[in-house]
Amino acid sequence: MSAKEESWSSNFGFMMAMIGSAVGLGSIWRFPYMVAQSGGSAFIFIYVTMMLVVGIIGMAVETALGRNSGVDAVDSYAKIAPKSKILGYIPVLTGFLLATIYTVLGGWALSYFAQSLFFQLGNNDFEAFRVSQEPLFWQILFLFLTMLILSLGVSKGIEKYSTLMNFLLLGMILIIVFFSLQLEGAMAGVYYLFTPKFEAFKDPTIWLMATGQAFFSLSLGSGAILTYGVYVDKKSPILRSSAITAIASIVMALLMGLAIFPAVFAMGQEPNAGPGLLFVTLPLVFNKMPGGAIFAILFFAATVFAALTSSVSMIEPALRRISNQMNISRTKTTWSLFAILVVLGAPMALAPGLLSSVKILGLNLFDTMNFLIDKIMMPFNGIVTFILAGWLWKKRGIVTELLGEEKSNSAFGTFLLWLVRLIAPTLVAIAVLKPLYDYII
Ligand code: PHE
Repeated sequence: MSAKEESWSSNFGFMMAMIGSAVGLGSIWRFPYMVAQSGGSAFIFIYVTMMLVVGIIGMAVETALGRNSGVDAVDSYAKIAPKSKILGYIPVLTGFLLATIYTVLGGWALSYFAQSLFFQLGNNDFEAFRVSQEPLFWQILFLFLTMLILSLGVSKGIEKYSTLMNFLLLGMILIIVFFSLQLEGAMAGVYYLFTPKFEAFKDPTIWLMATGQAFFSLSLGSGAILTYGVYVDKKSPILRSSAITAIASIVMALLMGLAIFPAVFAMGQEPNAGPGLLFVTLPLVFNKMPGGAIFAILFFAATVFAALTSSVSMIEPALRRISNQMNISRTKTTWSLFAILVVLGAPMALAPGLLSSVKILGLNLFDTMNFLIDKIMMPFNGIVTFILAGWLWKKRGIVTELLGEEKSNSAFGTFLLWLVRLIAPTLVAIAVLKPLYDYII
């Protein structure tokens, strides 16, 4: 089959791929520690609000732009406004660069999975591991697994493995939540997550973190959804699929909260361990918990699965663009990109240790890359897609693509149009500019 004919095998398969992309380390690793950093439940309410207000429409816009193009992420811009083609390379680059750091984290998770399999987690020293050369090995292995899935194709690779892994992930997390809630003292964790703290609503930083998290956890601004949109059937209801994906992603994040915090509290650990929550605090919890060794295996397997189905989606945009444009087979392109990513990714894996003296603006290579992608490139791409879809797509094109010809002039259509034109990009712009402003002032 030529690359041009690739598509999802069904609407369900498409949803699975979208959920696979969305649910990843963002929900499993970043969400819980952000919750802890911002004092529990307040963050959750704001995050859910931002997912619903900006996330769903952002996802729908990217899917619609991709489907409208039918070619690839770059073309999804060019099709709307030929002059914007050059900007269309940025999301492709964003996803690709994100893969260089995401695979480091995926590799960490893979290593923890291996250690838990051999019941070695108890001896783990995260700090020593992080600054050693070992993460490089695990990163390459994780990247290899990602490329293996990609090499199998869109429906036979991405879709099939996303479906399988989504269900395994859900099953494993449900088992962990069930047992976590049985632990003595677990309710403290539940209260911590869900007791509303209204003062926090006034704190702008929490709004900013929540917006960033909504963006990241829906894989927006990285070419992933634009490209997944290319493979979507013309009749598929994009708005509904986007809403379901966002809700699935919220549910998974909340389930993660319910898996982690009750156990953390029951085992007398500090919830606010920052990014170390998953890799430092949880192993301690598993160590103390009855049957913890088994839970550790389930948990880190789930994490690896979730991370894999996300990392495929950040590389697919470049893979699609290159193999389709240059007429190189999918297999050849996949393994060439693998080689490039090993080279570009290695410095990221070694950034905390061997290369820790290499600093840009005071940050190591990994943190610099993360800052560039998360704080600048992704929101920038997000704003560009809103402007393209809202202002430059002729004759309410975005609304027609989302609601169909007949309903495009309805009141709901007009509401959607202004959500795309004004509300969503303004919220994202404020979220980006506010911290920069604070930094400079
Ligand atoms: N949504 C993924 C997660 O939560 C991250 C991601 C970002 C994936 C961008 C693809 C593109 O882990």
